[in-house]
Amino acid sequence: MPAVVIVGAQWGDEGKGKVVDLYAEAADMVVRYAGGPNAGHTLVVGDVSIVVRLIPSGILRPQTRCVMAQGMVVDPAVLAGEITALEARGHVIAGRLFVSDRAHVILPYHPLIDGLREGAAAAGAKIGTTKRGIGPCYEDKAARRGVRVGDLRDLRRVEALVASNLRAWSPVIRDLGGEVPDVARIMAEIAPLAERLRPLVTDTSALIEGALKAGQRVLLEGAQGTLLDVDHGTYPFVTSSSAVSGGACAGAGIGPTRIRRVVGLTKAYCTRVGEGPFPTELDDAIGERIRKAGHEFGSVTGRPRRTGWVDLPALRYAARVNGLDGLALTKLDVLTGLSEVRACVAYDTPQGRTRELPVDALETATPVYETFPGWSEDLAAARAIADLPEAARSYVRFVAAQVEVPIDIVSVGARRDETITLRDAFAANTTAS
Ligand code: GDP
Ligand code: IMO
Ligand code: MG
Repeated sequence: MPAVVIVGAQWGDEGKGKVVDLYAEAADMVVRYAGGPNAGHTLVVGDVSIVVRLIPSGILRPQTRCVMAQGMVVDPAVLAGEITALEARGHVIAGRLFVSDRAHVILPYHPLIDGLREGAAAAGAKIGTTKRGIGPCYEDKAARRGVRVGDLRDLRRVEALVASNLRAWSPVIRDLGGEVPDVARIMAEIAPLAERLRPLVTDTSALIEGALKAGQRVLLEGAQGTLLDVDHGTYPFVTSSSAVSGGACAGAGIGPTRIRRVVGLTKAYCTRVGEGPFPTELDDAIGERIRKAGHEFGSVTGRPRRTGWVDLPALRYAARVNGLDGLALTKLDVLTGLSEVRACVAYDTPQGRTRELPVDALETATPVYETFPGWSEDLAAARAIADLPEAARSYVRFVAAQVEVPIDIVSVGARRDETITLRDAFAANTTAS
């Protein structure tokens, strides 16, 4: 049974947690393939809301095995905290959670450097990172000096790597006005965490291949979103990992031939947290209303998310770079009560009007909007497209037609049941209904 990829089609926070948790009901394995604790994926079951940052969003489904694959960067302290919190709620982790020996370890100097850099950056140069050490950790990986999770089996090796890495980073830390941390203190912090995580560590690429060969259903869970991808996003206002669907292969250690379907997630509007261009941003009362109705505050940092209209050229771009087969349209309910709803359909640029996203020239591009009548009905009880008011239905149809990707799911609330499912994730790959 081939794998299904769930990928964010915007700037993150599209509702990956909800959709992965929903699909995980029918999955045997859920694999996170990129990013680290910069992610915050929210799972709502009844009245309980849980945010996972490193652990895959399948963890609430007892039949799934959950894998943190080698494309990830893992902060052992955050992971230990997440495990403790889930176990306290009665979820079984032992024997169900596996961490790649090749994933990289976030060490205390990574968030230190991330925070110092953000603090020192001039206005306009700030990325608005989550300050979780993501960038510096991936830098160490690319510099071929990083500490990998498998290294935690040999603390003497970790100590030598930490000492030499700190020598490399010290001029940077000092230049930013920081204090270079002490190797012994870092090792004292890491040693008990290494002990705790060691039983989870394995060759996860082989584990995933074994599941696929046994005919199991595997979900590959993206983090961040297409426009935050280091290659395809709004560079340099991006994260440091490969967030697109192609990143799922390298990040999980499986070949592209194993992927059956790629589902892209988009909100019915758009948000961005952190700095960087956001042409459809609403800096007005409507934007504030969407922020309130959608609870658009970062699940990691608590920062208010910037809000705006849906960007169809951006979704067409996401459809291209991810090879989207299906769309999951989330948070349609949040638009309820607006007198009209808008969608960006094209851009006016110095070179003329285009339906493409001018991804590297967004500052000089002006969105061209189409306006739709709004609706006032509560959508939370809708379980079929026919249950939606006509205005909401035609908005959904317009988005699918413009992006030229069929809709698999429309989400009308944070809870699992507040969903219109048009196509099951693991259904045979025929045309969507
Ligand atoms: P992720 O990072 O893509 O997993 O998304 P986040 O969890 O950071 O943010 C999405 C937020 O929207 C969470 O608070 C979800 O509980 C919530 N959510 C997801 N789908 C819906 C929906 O259809 N309607 C509403 N109102 N909330 C939703
Ligand atoms: P999920 O998986 C939204 C953003 C940060 C910042 C930029 C770089 O929950 O969708 P980083 O800390 O990665 O170096 O920050 O990327 N960012 C996210 N925004 N959702 C996320 O994850 C994000 N992960 C990183 O706000 O703009
Ligand atoms: Mg999130």
